[in-house]
Amino acid sequence: MSYHDSLPQIKRLLSEISAVFPPRVLEVGILDGISFITLAAWMRFSLPTFALYGIDVIIKEHVKIIVNLLEPTLAQDIKVITGSSLDVMPKMIDGNFQFDLIMLDGDHNYHTVSNDLSNSLKLLSPNGVIIVDDYHGKYETTDMWYSEAEAWSSLCAARVETEKHGVKTAVDDFISDHPELVLEDSVTRSLAAVIKYRKD
Ligand SMILES: C[S@@+](CC[C@H](N)C(=O)[O-])C[C@H]1O[C@@H](n2cnc3c(N)ncnc32)[C@H](O)[C@@H]1O
Repeated sequence: MSYHDSLPQIKRLLSEISAVFPPRVLEVGILDGISFITLAAWMRFSLPTFALYGIDVIIKEHVKIIVNLLEPTLAQDIKVITGSSLDVMPKMIDGNFQFDLIMLDGDHNYHTVSNDLSNSLKLLSPNGVIIVDDYHGKYETTDMWYSEAEAWSSLCAARVETEKHGVKTAVDDFISDHPELVLEDSVTRSLAAVIKYRKD
């Protein structure tokens, strides 16, 4: 899916953050860049300083071309990184990267989402927010592995058998293991879940 419905909310959040410090954003799963390019264009022309990073096992040529055409300034750090979140996020943790907003929309199965969530928590700034796409919908309790689709078979990790399945199951288990986090379920009509640090 993509974050169409959440973009006004995301822009509001980033505007609020940018009043205090330059926002740092990470998207896992770019595909055609519907969210990434939209966000990159908006940030490019609205925020003087920011970081926007995207990870995907394949970065399409048009995404690279459009990012170049945006001509970000030196203070506008837009990067697309080729690789699996399962490999790239641990390297970002080792490099002490931090993000204020992390959008997870990569592989849609219990194993990967659980790993992406625990890596996200290590990369999340103290007031950061994680948005998990497809919390509701057909992958709620059913696993989807990109490696089982022909175009992705050589690019994505092979299926790992788990007792539990689905994006929602992974998010719900993660929240129950982390009392410091709070889940806002589908704050818009979108299918995404929003995870924040508990304020109380
Ligand atoms: C649903 S699409 C993303 C849509 C995009 N977020 C948007 O808003 O338009 C999922 C993408 O995740 C990528 N992907 C699958 N497994 C991944 C992984 N382990 N790490 C990074 N990207 C992955 C696929 O290549 C695909 O492009």
